[in-house]
Amino acid sequence: MGAIMLDLAIFISGRGSNMSAIIDACKNSGFPARVSVVISNKPDAKGLEIAAAEGIPTQVVDHKLYSSKPEFEEALHEVVSAYSVDLICLAGFMRILGVGFIQKWPDQIINIHPSLLPEYKGLHTHQRVIEDGKDKTGCTVHYVVPEVDAGQTLVQKVVSVLPDDTEETLGARVLEQEHEAYPEAIDLIAQKLSKRVAG
Ligand code: GAR
Repeated sequence: MGAIMLDLAIFISGRGSNMSAIIDACKNSGFPARVSVVISNKPDAKGLEIAAAEGIPTQVVDHKLYSSKPEFEEALHEVVSAYSVDLICLAGFMRILGVGFIQKWPDQIINIHPSLLPEYKGLHTHQRVIEDGKDKTGCTVHYVVPEVDAGQTLVQKVVSVLPDDTEETLGARVLEQEHEAYPEAIDLIAQKLSKRVAG
C-alpha cells in the first residue's frame, strides 16, 4: 500500500507566511501532503501572489460580495469542493467559519493561533501576553470546531517572553515557531490517518 498523501486547501487573508511554510514543507520528498488550492477572502492578499508564483491554483471568495455569512460560506464550500481536498488549513484566515461550513468538513479543518490555547483566544495575543507579564507564550495548531479557538490541539510550541519584548519582537519569534508547527501538525494528521487505514 502506498504512503498516504493529503491534498490540502489553504485559506488565507493576508501575507501568507504560514502558507509559504506549508508549501515549502510539501517540497520535501516524504512529506505526506501537497497543496491543491489557496483560497483568500481578500482579493489583495499578498499570499495569493506567492502561491501563484509557486504554480499553485488560487481563488478569491470575497466575503464583501455576499449579503450574508451563509451565502459567503456556501460559495466558499463550492469553490473548495471543485478541488481534491482532504484537509483545509486556515493560515491567517481572518473570518470565523460558521457551524454549517464546519459540519461539511468534519475533522478536516485545522487552524493556527498565535498563543498557547486555551490561553489568549482571539486577537492581539502578543500585546495581551506582554501586558499580563507572562514569561511564556507560543502557538497552537488545532482542529476547528464551532467554538472559536477551542478545538483539540495537534501541536503547540512554547516561546519565552523576554523582558524587553514588544508585540513585534515577540510576534516575530512566535511566527518562526508557527512555521515549524504547521507542517508538523499536517504530518501528524497524515500519520494518524495512515494508521487508521493500515489498522
Ligand atoms: C499568524 O500569526 C497566525 O497565527 C495568525 O495570523 C497570522 C497570519 O500570518 N492567526 C490568527 O490570529 C487567527 N486567529 P501569515 O499570513 O503570515 O501566516
